[in-house]
Amino acid sequence: MAPRTVTARHFLSIQDVASDLGRLIDHAARLKAQRRRARLRPSLSGRNIALIFEKPSTRTRTSFEVGIHDLGGDAIYYSPKEMQLGRGETIGDTARVLSRYVDAIVYRAFRHDSVLELAGSSTVPVINALDDREHPTQIIADLLTLSERWKGSFKGRRLAWIGDGNNVLHSLMLGAALVGLDLVCATPESYRPLPEIVAVAREYGRLHGAELTFTDDPAIAATDADALYTDVWVSMGDEAETAKREKAFRGFQINAELLARAKPSAFVLHDLPAHRGQEITDDVLDGSRSAAWDEAENRLHAEKAILELLLAPDRLPRSSPARAWAPKLRARRPARR
Ligand code: CP
Repeated sequence: MAPRTVTARHFLSIQDVASDLGRLIDHAARLKAQRRRARLRPSLSGRNIALIFEKPSTRTRTSFEVGIHDLGGDAIYYSPKEMQLGRGETIGDTARVLSRYVDAIVYRAFRHDSVLELAGSSTVPVINALDDREHPTQIIADLLTLSERWKGSFKGRRLAWIGDGNNVLHSLMLGAALVGLDLVCATPESYRPLPEIVAVAREYGRLHGAELTFTDDPAIAATDADALYTDVWVSMGDEAETAKREKAFRGFQINAELLARAKPSAFVLHDLPAHRGQEITDDVLDGSRSAAWDEAENRLHAEKAILELLLAPDRLPRSSPARAWAPKLRARRPARR
């Protein structure tokens, strides 16, 4: 079989869908409505998708596997131990071989460079299912969740991030700026996000009317916010820093007192898994103002929209000029960490 010559479209960063972000969110909402009415079309019929996960996952793996099944495709899951990758075969050779068998590769990696390497040698689309730089599929689900609660409009809203300047925040900064959503981030001074991603997000924000600001005081960030968002203090791969991080993030907890500073209509996001009693209290996560469970469900609809964008793009609606926040410019990809 001759090598394929097509240039695949990858989803490694929110930047890769900058010009499609509005219709991607709209499409995820449409797929959600269709699933509820059991009217999904089998757009991935006859397609096989490989899932390579170097790290554990509950939501991302399950939402991709169920989403692929819902759309009529087949998913093949690998942990590196089950592949020659775990015995020293290169990422590039793995990509070259899998490209001859499957139609897309979903990859969760420790290092962003590994994701870039896989995509660099793959002739089929590669989807970043989390690395140390970004978690872009999570942010499509988050923007869908916010859009549902705010009736489709991000303008004039303010989201407060409370916690680590991590991969999730990197993708969130880019996504929020592209949809015109103001984002205020409360992080300890030494756990701010990467400056080159802040710079790209600020450039997107300049074009789409969104502010990105930073503070080391969670109370300032939460005051009058429309929503609060947090994540674990110790991400996968940071376990050696657990004691240091738990000390640095003390005070960066979403609890009833912090939530009381936000608007009465404000709600709380958490990408999960949660470390209850650390970054969030039980009463907030389980309370009526928690959007975390809708957010987790929305991973399913977001993954399907992403898969269709890459593998069945005709299924997506055309860009709507009515979407004032639809992206207009693709910023330069930031330099690698
Ligand atoms: N939020 C998230 O990515 O969850 P998993 O690690 O369970 O996939």
